[in-house]
Amino acid sequence: MALPIFKPDLLHLFSISLFLFTSVSISHSHSNDFCEAGALYGAAGCGISPPLSSAKLLIKGGTVVNAHHQEVADVYVEDGVIVTVRPNLKVGDDVQVLDATGKLVMPGGIDPHTHLAMEFMGTETIDDFFSGQAAALAGGTTMHIDFVIPVNGSLTAGIEAYERKAQKSCMDYGFHMAITKWDEDVSRDMEIMVKEKGINSFKFFLAYKGSLMISDELLLDGLKRCKSLGALAMVHAENGDAVFEGQNRMIELGITGPEGHALSRPPVLEAEATARAIRLASFVNTPLYVVHVMSIDAMEEIAKARKSGQKVVGEPVVSGLVLDDSKLWDPDFSIASKQELALYIYCCCFFFCIFAILYVMSPPIRALGHAKALQAALSTGILQLVGTDHCAFNSTQKAFGIDDFRKIPNGVNGIEERMHLVWDTMVETGQMSVTDYVRVTSTECARIFNIYPRKGAILAGSDADIIIFNPNSSVGISARSHHSRTDTNVYEGRRGKGKVEVTIAGGRVVWINDELKVSPGSGKYVEMPPFNYLFSGVDKADDSYLASLNAPVKRSKSVS
Ligand code: URP
Ligand code: ZN
Ligand code: ZN
Repeated sequence: MALPIFKPDLLHLFSISLFLFTSVSISHSHSNDFCEAGALYGAAGCGISPPLSSAKLLIKGGTVVNAHHQEVADVYVEDGVIVTVRPNLKVGDDVQVLDATGKLVMPGGIDPHTHLAMEFMGTETIDDFFSGQAAALAGGTTMHIDFVIPVNGSLTAGIEAYERKAQKSCMDYGFHMAITKWDEDVSRDMEIMVKEKGINSFKFFLAYKGSLMISDELLLDGLKRCKSLGALAMVHAENGDAVFEGQNRMIELGITGPEGHALSRPPVLEAEATARAIRLASFVNTPLYVVHVMSIDAMEEIAKARKSGQKVVGEPVVSGLVLDDSKLWDPDFSIASKQELALYIYCCCFFFCIFAILYVMSPPIRALGHAKALQAALSTGILQLVGTDHCAFNSTQKAFGIDDFRKIPNGVNGIEERMHLVWDTMVETGQMSVTDYVRVTSTECARIFNIYPRKGAILAGSDADIIIFNPNSSVGISARSHHSRTDTNVYEGRRGKGKVEVTIAGGRVVWINDELKVSPGSGKYVEMPPFNYLFSGVDKADDSYLASLNAPVKRSKSVS
């Protein structure tokens, strides 16, 4: 939808917002958007109430779907754990029964890539560990893995900060950790993180020059250390030096709007960094995980490496799978101040207008065609699992960069929308089976981060993280009804087939009848052990490499 081009004055804005406030208050009196953990939790109008906690639960008559099998069966849960999966179970009166006849009973989603309460680009993401997780649960995701950002390079200070942030959690979560500098302390602390803190993955940013970006030398040190610890190395793959050059080029050309963001960091820079990271991981012989694969170019580097037998995991994110960059070229409008702009965006999101700055993330959302190719790569196994990179900012924060794209906080929402959008895009279109849907939204993440089958499965002994999904229903996406704290939604106005009707997290019914029932502090930290399945065979490959060297060559000293 095209953006109406006019210059709003404050009176105009005020009357729009008054009208909207009134109509929204009437039609969405239970909106959860701005619920605050602690402050508003349980308050009238917040719409979030404590969980329905029955220690015993029976999900009856649904089709239970795992990554490799589906069958009609009942699922019996006790004290947060799945006890039995079998048809026609009989239970006592003390058991809460949920009828799932005609519906799919699937493992709750696991989002491998989120940024809750992250300090970034001079601000902090708007969703914290309560609001972001509440949104996730409303969309059928029952666990996520967030990125701990070190404090001044210190891993121990970083984990302490994130442990504090996560105290208000209402669902299970794990941590990856970014590595932003290199010295003996960092190398030592990586071992502490793995052995004492349950972190089994470290992320290296090849972009964000001047803040998170690291050098190739650091990447090599980090890859070697990851390998020795059995931790998975992850990369944000864009060439940060070239992006910096691209940004300067855009500014010199007078391109300061959000289209400059995409133009300054084209697919070739994503492909270059992806290829470089893949080759360095091959040189070290350690598995590699490429986060947010956004372009055909990067995806093809992953495909080539996998075809050659290298252990490389590629993670597309929902925004890359379903959006295209046309929004970034939406015509801009002149505006007197950033405050006015924020108010204008806030008002207009109710009219489904498109605002270019909302779509700024890195790597950028690509031109038409990339998303379709990424979908095909996901359906054929070139890419393995879907994340969100949920990194939400509100319209005021996004407006920081209205006259300079370099200042727009990078990131989009998605934690609540992922399960629905992947279903609609992949399963409804016939590109993916229901079992593969479970694999890419849950099971593969659990396997890669070494928590399967505790997570990612509906099996006796697994955690009772379960969704009841109605494939014959549908959902609409809007900032008016979502549960994230952000006041906009990059998927605004989309409707899709399929609906998460019930979410069960740790055996508690937390989402039912379109209502959230969550409490801060109920989520648990999930420790993830090192040496996942990707590491099997690494030592044998090292041995055959050493055997192949035929070196050092023994030379006899000649006497003259
Ligand atoms: O734009 C993005 N992706 N923001 C979050 C930080 C990152 O690069 O993952
Ligand atoms: Zn990134
Ligand atoms: Zn990210």
